[in-house]
Amino acid sequence: MTEKEKREVTEVSEAQIAVHWQEEGYYHASPKFIAQANMTDETVYDRFSLDNFPNCFKEYADLLDWYEYWHTTLDTSDAPCWKWFVGGKINASYNCVDRHLAKNKNKTAIHFVPELEEEKVEHITYQELYVRVNEFTAILQDFCGLKAGDRVTLHMPMVPELAITMLACARLGVIHSQVFGGFSGKACSDRIVDSKSDVLITMDAYYRGGKILDHKEKADIAVAEAAKENQKVQKVLVWQRYPGKYSAQTPMVDGRDFFVNDLLKKYYGKRIEPVRMPAEAPLFLMYTSGTTGKPKGCQHSTGGYLAYVTGTSKYVQDIHPEDVYWCMADIGWITGHSYIVYGPLALGASTVIFEGIPNYPDAGRCWRIAQDLDVNIFHTAPTTIRALRKIGPDEPRKYNYFFKHMTTVGEPIEPEVWRWYHEVVGKGKAAIVDTWWQTETGGFLCSTLPALKPMKPGSAGPGMPGIHPIIFDEDGNTLPKGAGKAGNICIQNPWPGGFQTIWGDRDRFVRQYYTRYCKNPASKDWRDWPYLTGDAAVEAPDGYIRILGRIDDVINVSGHRLGTKELESAALVVPEVAEAAVVPVKHDIKGIEPDLYVALKPGVAATPELAKKISDAIVREIGPIAKPRKVWIVPDMPKTRSGKIMRRVLGSISNKSDVGDVMTLANPEVVELITKMVQG
Ligand code: WTA
Repeated sequence: MTEKEKREVTEVSEAQIAVHWQEEGYYHASPKFIAQANMTDETVYDRFSLDNFPNCFKEYADLLDWYEYWHTTLDTSDAPCWKWFVGGKINASYNCVDRHLAKNKNKTAIHFVPELEEEKVEHITYQELYVRVNEFTAILQDFCGLKAGDRVTLHMPMVPELAITMLACARLGVIHSQVFGGFSGKACSDRIVDSKSDVLITMDAYYRGGKILDHKEKADIAVAEAAKENQKVQKVLVWQRYPGKYSAQTPMVDGRDFFVNDLLKKYYGKRIEPVRMPAEAPLFLMYTSGTTGKPKGCQHSTGGYLAYVTGTSKYVQDIHPEDVYWCMADIGWITGHSYIVYGPLALGASTVIFEGIPNYPDAGRCWRIAQDLDVNIFHTAPTTIRALRKIGPDEPRKYNYFFKHMTTVGEPIEPEVWRWYHEVVGKGKAAIVDTWWQTETGGFLCSTLPALKPMKPGSAGPGMPGIHPIIFDEDGNTLPKGAGKAGNICIQNPWPGGFQTIWGDRDRFVRQYYTRYCKNPASKDWRDWPYLTGDAAVEAPDGYIRILGRIDDVINVSGHRLGTKELESAALVVPEVAEAAVVPVKHDIKGIEPDLYVALKPGVAATPELAKKISDAIVREIGPIAKPRKVWIVPDMPKTRSGKIMRRVLGSISNKSDVGDVMTLANPEVVELITKMVQG
């Protein structure tokens, strides 16, 4: 057997457990929507055809203010590390803040909605954002001594101070690396170490489900863990949830921890000129899960990234400056970076930052926010849609809001759920876009342009203008449109939003995303380097693409991307555990949940306490989002004769599907035992 075949027989991926739904009919956007839409010109697809590549992307770059234009649109000399708009000089903070002052300084840039309803919504104007970004930039520059190219780790919750911190970094060309606030101190430390940050920026506390959580304690763990790996964090800047008041229990460490609020007093009135950054300078790192235990830092550029997210925010999200736009993702994920902060602010829109969870204190919370702020563009993930539908299927009808446009992102959406979103949340009037993309890709890959292409429930849609998908079978043959077969979806061409490399690991970047279908590793021609997305997909005769899920060992739990190997290595931290295997299980609300199978070391007894200890270890190492559905302590793992764990068999057991032929296993008898244990 080849390596590839071996892998297919032993492993289980999301795509294998995906349900294929039928092709649905079209829904059309209303004439009212079309009349006001930003993109109604059908020639856009021709303008962005491969014949006009790569210059077509000037159209997006021209939405920004440049200090200097580029001399080379796409430099392929270091293939497949593409460089866009080379020679161009730009600043992301300037584009998201300063340039709006002349006309819109008094307009709300950020509506901050605290989780507690009795707390007032904070409306931050562009002028105020400008002042706050500048003063905080002064702290970064003068107090922390940071300069362009340095990395800073942020571990912040959903508060406007997070956007301010990002924009302050961008002002100096400092590379920010925001770690999702719900991740553990240990997960934060891994990212500090990998990016070699000596400054950590955090917040004392935030609200979750009505409770205020001590967040500062995670900073202490992160710093201590990083020190063990020889990465010394010199300064921890602590924003306060309530300025002037400390809301955490964990003490501040003298000489290391500083309240931003105290420091700001010294920098009152400071203004810092934005640094004119080369277009290809990194803007930020976003760590994501891959096929090994170690998360990888996706490195995004300044000019290309900002051009791509601005263009797609304008034409797919249909953002106009007068819109109130609410994306309910977390800024700790790529969706929040691109479509809460950078894209909407570059367009001068009002963007909503919501601290809380959608179902607290009740099922009407989201719709009250929409009503009060007159939100007209709404953006969320299928997991949230499914959860809101379950807890309050009729709730949206009780509130008087009007969405012209809605987005779904992050997971495939079941047509039935899509229809509820359309009829009830969108009141039958909103145009919907299903946007398929990844941390790596910076912005959307497949979606419909809402005024030009009809919606089709359960399908993301065709490639975006300038994005040319291609579906390959295992052997690299192209699957034509309408073949009715799933294959590995790749993108034929580079685009400005694509990540530049994996931070500090170019080999892994090439290996993981390009080697599989690369036509010639020595080539400097982009045509030889299709980008492997890691998803399985089918293309209908109309060119619409349905995504089935990951083909590798990445799983999408409630739209949060996790590596099964990360969970397994967290379980192995528990000394009693000998072996661990994580498999994806279908879940009504979360889409996918992880099931954890463990085998213990000889002589160790299986107890409920031990199962809990293992589950707690995962939460401690990664965070609550990674908590397994169940820890199954099994007498032995089903294995091939060569000793490989048959995750595929475990996956079938967890999903109550046919385990197939197991007689060739080294230990077929355990399959029945485990099936009884899991299925009762
Ligand atoms: C999945 C999130 C179906 C896919 C932006 C991808 C989707 C992974 C969709 C990336 C969608 C994202 N339909 N599946 N509209 N959007 N995915 O990096 O498997 O957190 O590879 O980026 O989510 O997750 P990530």
